[in-house]
Amino acid sequence: MCGIVGAIAQRDIVPVLVEGLRRLEYRGYDSAGIAVLNGSGALKRVRTVGKVQILQDAIDGSPTHGPIGIAHTRWATHGVPSERNAHPHISDDGLAIVHNGIIENHEALRAELSASGYTFTSDTDTEVIAHRIHHHLKKGGTLLEAVGHTVAELEGAYALAVVSESDPERIILAREGCPVVIGLGKNENFVASDIAALLPQTRTFVFLEEGDVAEVTRTSVRITDRSGKPVERKIHESELSADAADKGQYAHFMLKEIHEQPRAVADTLQERVANGRLLEAAFGPAATEVFAKTEAVHIIACGTSYHAGFVARYLIEQLANIPCSVEIASEFRYRSPVVPRNTLFVTISQSGETADTLAALRLAKQAGYLSSLAICNVPESSLVRESELVMLTRAGPEIGVASTKAFTTQIAALGLLVVALAKSHGATPEQERTLVTRLVELPGIIEKTLALDPIIQDLAKRFVEKHHALFLGRGTMYPIAMEGSLKLKEISYIHAEAYAAGELKHGPLALVDDDMPVIAVAPNTDLLEKLKSNLMEVKARGGELIVFADPESGMKSSDGVTVITMPKHVSYIQAPVVYTIPLQMLSYHVATARGTDVDKPRNLAKSVTVE
Ligand code: M6R
Repeated sequence: MCGIVGAIAQRDIVPVLVEGLRRLEYRGYDSAGIAVLNGSGALKRVRTVGKVQILQDAIDGSPTHGPIGIAHTRWATHGVPSERNAHPHISDDGLAIVHNGIIENHEALRAELSASGYTFTSDTDTEVIAHRIHHHLKKGGTLLEAVGHTVAELEGAYALAVVSESDPERIILAREGCPVVIGLGKNENFVASDIAALLPQTRTFVFLEEGDVAEVTRTSVRITDRSGKPVERKIHESELSADAADKGQYAHFMLKEIHEQPRAVADTLQERVANGRLLEAAFGPAATEVFAKTEAVHIIACGTSYHAGFVARYLIEQLANIPCSVEIASEFRYRSPVVPRNTLFVTISQSGETADTLAALRLAKQAGYLSSLAICNVPESSLVRESELVMLTRAGPEIGVASTKAFTTQIAALGLLVVALAKSHGATPEQERTLVTRLVELPGIIEKTLALDPIIQDLAKRFVEKHHALFLGRGTMYPIAMEGSLKLKEISYIHAEAYAAGELKHGPLALVDDDMPVIAVAPNTDLLEKLKSNLMEVKARGGELIVFADPESGMKSSDGVTVITMPKHVSYIQAPVVYTIPLQMLSYHVATARGTDVDKPRNLAKSVTVE
């Protein structure tokens, strides 16, 4: 997704802007640009297609310096990736803007502006905003007022930052539907769409809320809300260090993040369970009351986070005996939900800024749910701030676009939710102890599973020339198969599909031949024998089977069947996390063998802040 960085200081801020853009690279982008007001207030812009390093080379070739500026990485929505569509966009009299989001009424505004003499040099919706601000500025008033008038006319989502030769001592910001944060420094201030961009400069942040407009100078920050009333927004101190986003000894962030899972899952459980008990502090005292009233659970999320929710559905119904449904946020947000009495609304998100998930939460608030709980990895995110109850997943920054540790920590956190709901619905202390003990064992079992890496790396070679793959599982392993298939397709670009194994004979079996690898996840659960019968159906059609199986499954490698033995005694609540690990490693090794950009797969963004 697009990224914004801005700075106002007494020093040359170009290195700050470029470093900020580098730190946002993980979000995914196709072009980058910078606009700087030099010491005498004249605007200079440099834009390039491709990596931030290409922008840096262009800046080196055309020296650009100044104490105030804005910068952007663009992920194309309106208009192809090209220099002319890259941000910043400029209107007359040296007014420059960077923008994240989508303006839905841009065509009408563009027509009006064209009729009044503005010429457009790009295909973007953003250029419309630049001209609109200029149009208001021409009528008199300050830059802040002109931005205020403009955002009142916009429909859609935006985070924007504006600088102007006419008012060269400030950056104006606005937020509606996309995050933007102000970083506070000493006699200098910064702005960004993600705190990761600013961590080398400051750890002190102010988050704008929906509808806010802000004026940032070197020494002050002034924020007004949607109605134009001055407001104070809370100051947050981030605990993240500037090197939290460093890949260290690993070849890729994804590999590092896969190996961080024992620690990340342990951190997620830490101080939330003790002596076989779930502590009240885990969800907070308000949650205890909510859980006691909860008669149903409705989970909403996107992508990998949706798969975590799908796992939770099985666990909540089986272990807490409470009805649970799970749904994709982009579907939920456009229907009129009929909400059963006392239903807890749960959102799951790594970033906490996914536009569809946030919109779903906002809809849910009007729909009569009992309460809202966010399971999220980013403490300062919109989702966390707007939810009534919160469980942070403590995975640490996840930079690879493909979610790995975010997913397993979500399942660990959902495991805690299962215990909390089971407890409030009659589980005995002994049942609570068993579940908590199984969760606490997870980091050790993940370590053991990671030791399978050399075998999986070898296995990955068989996929290099493949075009398709099928993933199968039953029960909680069905969403794990879905996650395995998503991982493979997003980073290796091999088409992959996941099926509940019982569905095989209802259609997908027709695809199976000796060129179609079929990957199955087979822990020792009640459904193992059923799964084995389904796998025989594949074998009988000459399919190439790869099974990650429990040592006591009785499955053995044979002609056309490769069985990889997983750690023993993996229980029902542990299996979703444990059986995810080999699928992550498999997709990682297939992708590196195929030479794709593992951490930044084509066309994808880490945080999907537009619809
Ligand atoms: O930040 P979120 O968890 O809300 O993101 C939702 C999806 O975009 C995300 O899970 C995506 O599917 C994964 N990064 C894919 O690996």
